[in-house]
Amino acid sequence: MSQVTTSIRVMAKTKTQARCSGCGRTEPKWVGQCPGCAKWGTLVEETVGSGGTAAVGSSRSGAAVRAVAPAVAARPIRLVPVDTHDRARTGIAELDRVLGGGLVPGSVTLLGGEPGAGKSTLLLQAADALARGGRTVLYVSAEESVSQVRLRAERLDALADDLLLAAETDLASVLGLIEGHGPDVLVLDSVQTIRLEELSGAAGGVTQVRECAAVLTRVAKARGMATLLVGHVTKDGQLAGPRVLEHLVDTVCEFDGDRHHALRLLRAQKNRFGPVGEVGCFEMTGEGLRGVDDAGRLFLGETAAGTTGVAVTLTLEGRRPLACEVQALVTPTSLPHPRRVASGLDAQRLSLLVAVLERRSDVRLAEQDVFASTVGGLRLLEPAADLALCLALASSRLDVPVARGLIALGEVGLAGELRTVAQTQRRLAEAARLGFTGALLPAAYDGDACGLRLHRVPDLRGALATGLR
Ligand code: TYD
Ligand code: MG
Repeated sequence: MSQVTTSIRVMAKTKTQARCSGCGRTEPKWVGQCPGCAKWGTLVEETVGSGGTAAVGSSRSGAAVRAVAPAVAARPIRLVPVDTHDRARTGIAELDRVLGGGLVPGSVTLLGGEPGAGKSTLLLQAADALARGGRTVLYVSAEESVSQVRLRAERLDALADDLLLAAETDLASVLGLIEGHGPDVLVLDSVQTIRLEELSGAAGGVTQVRECAAVLTRVAKARGMATLLVGHVTKDGQLAGPRVLEHLVDTVCEFDGDRHHALRLLRAQKNRFGPVGEVGCFEMTGEGLRGVDDAGRLFLGETAAGTTGVAVTLTLEGRRPLACEVQALVTPTSLPHPRRVASGLDAQRLSLLVAVLERRSDVRLAEQDVFASTVGGLRLLEPAADLALCLALASSRLDVPVARGLIALGEVGLAGELRTVAQTQRRLAEAARLGFTGALLPAAYDGDACGLRLHRVPDLRGALATGLR
């Protein structure tokens, strides 16, 4: 290794030149007026290495950046040791699954979600479990008073001995707390309510959010302190403010769920230490969040056999197949522009499929109001759900139920053709596990049936003829 280090020698003999701060042109000597942009007084003298032997760059301000011998040389990738992270399991299986096996020391995780999603609840439960596992955990609430948090902890039975609680909105004081207690894990709720005194701007503004997170990230890395930051999300689902943090933190998780439903999904959108696409399922109960390891039937309704306007598909949440019921209600309209209302589904996709049904099959929807929704608050935006949605719409319009025990998988094209969806086999296997007996699929599927009776159909018209009876 030392051989590699010593064989790299940077020639850094120096000379001077002048660079224009306006246009960046260099001149061998300082002159009053830049020959490049004709501005006066913009040339600044700088030192550079000689004759191209040294690696010399320049920063945006025009100052030369000199090459120095690196502390550690580049080395063949095979010789680079693998960091095996000593992960701290949070004790909440669904959270660990999403994090990729637990919290990595010194890592920074941003947990986003709409207000009321249950972020504080989840992190308080995780903090408690980590503290019970022998780690010192500092929970800083910048939103609620300590007695409010204590009250919640009471309800969650999250009163571990090594769980330290403070209410603080000033970042410097938070750093003081970290200094004083040396926690293994820090929870900060939330990054939008903490403030750095030296900076202008209100808490929650881009400058404050970014700077506070940057400071905490440096501290977390330096101390090996795993840090969990809460970030609120705006109505349209964007991480407001925290969007600017995404590149800064190691992991971004989103906690998602309809506040009228008990179900919550935790997704990793970015993870430097684990896979993305993992999904954790939780149920909000009176005693906090409970992990749901078999989400099989959560998104299926309780409709009686023979009910029209319902169809089932299998969606993939990350790698997890979830059976999901799509419901539709089609009723005659009295409005000049019939309503197309989607809940849990993409409204534009609904309009498009209504048009495809109208043109490519015998289902007339032009003078009908159309309502479509998922069950259990699931957001179903995958085109794989197209076929189920079309079946549900046609079933409601024609008042004919979808065949029993049937699931539908397929993307519907503008010509009414059906396209196979990704990982069909995985979805079929889950459908079989849940007791479904048949599957309606595009004709192109040639994979395993997974014990289901497969109905391969070429187009929408064929699908409706087979699926509705
Ligand atoms: P909270 O964790 O405060 O959400 P966030 O921090 O994301 O804003 O709690 C969300 C909701 O969960 C709140 O409306 C109350 C409810 N809740 C329960 O149903 N059971 C519980 O045990 C707790 C603690 C909260
Ligand atoms: Mg909260």
